[in-house]
Amino acid sequence: KRIVVLISGSGSNLQAIIDSITEKKISGQIVHVFSSKASAYGLERAQKANIPTSIVSLKDYKDKNLSREEFNKDLARSVTLLNPDLVVLAGWMLILSESFVESFKNILINLHPALPGDIEGANAIERAYDEFILGKRTKTGVMVHHVIAQVDRGEMILSEEIPIEFGDSLKDLENKIHAVEHKLLPLAIEKLLTQNN
Ligand code: GRF
Repeated sequence: KRIVVLISGSGSNLQAIIDSITEKKISGQIVHVFSSKASAYGLERAQKANIPTSIVSLKDYKDKNLSREEFNKDLARSVTLLNPDLVVLAGWMLILSESFVESFKNILINLHPALPGDIEGANAIERAYDEFILGKRTKTGVMVHHVIAQVDRGEMILSEEIPIEFGDSLKDLENKIHAVEHKLLPLAIEKLLTQNN
């Protein structure tokens, strides 16, 4: 099964997928990694694993007076040409256009560090932590969901609750969340790849 992964940052979740494939926990291979940032450490992780990479910088499009829609269309074309069975947003920090989402309906999934229907958008971990400090919550979580036009609101595939405990620092919570992500994302991928036979 052909997996395409989109990243923007350190790629620790990309690494979790790479490791799960090595351990034969995922019956597929990552055929390409796209990064929205040239500086993403995840690119090095892909290169070390001999996975082809591309940098798709929205800034470059803007510098050339090309539109965001042009960016989405070109990215959709590049991904389509790879004939993927699954497209995984693993720390991809750009909102994709409705036409992009439509192009990969049912095979586009996203990892988000919050519970279904809870905090959406960037800085979800920090926002959960701030609410914990204000006494407004004692838990958060992680989910993998299908991507639809509405940000972080598609049908849930897997999710896991994470308690925020007294004495936890923001770093402690981030570490707990990332540990769950690194387990949950490969599980969600395998679940989709085996059921989509
Ligand atoms: C993860 O917390 C992911 O849920 C969020 O961005 C982070 C990406 O981490 N969207 P990494 O690049 O996979 O290490």
